[in-house]
Amino acid sequence: MENLGIAFTGSGSEVPVTSIDNNALAELVETSDEWITTRTGIKQRKLASKSETLTSLGAAAGRQALSAAGINASDLDLILLATSTPDDLFGTACRIQAELGATNAVAFDLTAACSGFVFGLVTAAQYIRTGVYQNVLLIGADILSRWVDWQDRNTCVLFGDGAGAVVMQANSHDRLLGFELKSDGTQNHYLNLAYTGEENELVKEATISQGNFAPITMNGKEVYRFAVQRVPEVVDKALFHANLSVDKLDWLILHQANQRILDAVAQRLNIPSYKVISNLSHYGNTSAASIPLALDEAVRSGKIKPGDSIAASGFGAGLTWGAAIFQWGR
Ligand code: ACO
Repeated sequence: MENLGIAFTGSGSEVPVTSIDNNALAELVETSDEWITTRTGIKQRKLASKSETLTSLGAAAGRQALSAAGINASDLDLILLATSTPDDLFGTACRIQAELGATNAVAFDLTAACSGFVFGLVTAAQYIRTGVYQNVLLIGADILSRWVDWQDRNTCVLFGDGAGAVVMQANSHDRLLGFELKSDGTQNHYLNLAYTGEENELVKEATISQGNFAPITMNGKEVYRFAVQRVPEVVDKALFHANLSVDKLDWLILHQANQRILDAVAQRLNIPSYKVISNLSHYGNTSAASIPLALDEAVRSGKIKPGDSIAASGFGAGLTWGAAIFQWGR
């Protein structure tokens, strides 16, 4: 029988060395540990130095995931990098491929902001289910500190940097039970890291635009409202596709944006707090890295065990949101 099912066989993660707490941020903008803690649950975040690149963080997370899965880089058929903050706008997955020595793998980037890991998981699954690829390394990594306005207290207190990875392999048992993905570009303006250019008349016939990316802008209240409403819906839909009732879930791993969002979503889904994985107090919102980072920590600490049923849900810029229901292990 062909192996057209999917197994989740290894995880890894890497974060920058430097950590700054809320009190340090209060030296930068008018804020306080009390405000940040009560509104978000975040206590500290990791920030990448110049030498800690998306390539180095992503490759380190990937190496750990390969080792946990017990396969070599040369066994990989595909490396998918979910990120919004590449080292190179042409893509960073190939640099990671080179760093890992994954000579047989095709590698490319996928951008869906904080939903990137879940969108990447579903994308990787399509290649495995069609029998095209057997061994996939999925990495979620972001260095949002590069693009945060560090004078804007509305956003700078929220984000941190990091990388997480999982190995997905063809398997006789299918451990991906269900998923649902959504996008709504009409609400794109609520959360942006947008290109801004100045006009530059090259010749009479052609005026082009050249510039840079503006720092992150966000309508926090609208994003909050969107997350609390849409995430329970999409988890419900994914559970329906998985033919699983919510009480059969062992763990809920939401994109680690804000503890209040985690609590509100869990409450709406009727999932008790002991099943909700949360590590955002240490890392803040690490965008595409947040779910695999939380997953890897929970696997390594022995919290998540082989066979456990997990609902993972990402949400963010685009706007994009999605959920995947899967069982950990082979
Ligand atoms: N320190 C102190 N005061 C602040 C800070 C800060 N860091 N930031 C904002 N404020 C002030 C504002 O200026 C405003 O003051 P004003 O009333 O005088 O105008 C006031 O605090 C706003 O307070 P609240 O209305 O109580 O703020 P709220 O409860 O909406 O919390 C927050 C703000 C935390 C941003 C919330 O809206 C939120 O979590 N939204 C979701 C954001 C999110 O998760 N984004 C990322 C998800 S998608 C992605 O991952 C990219």
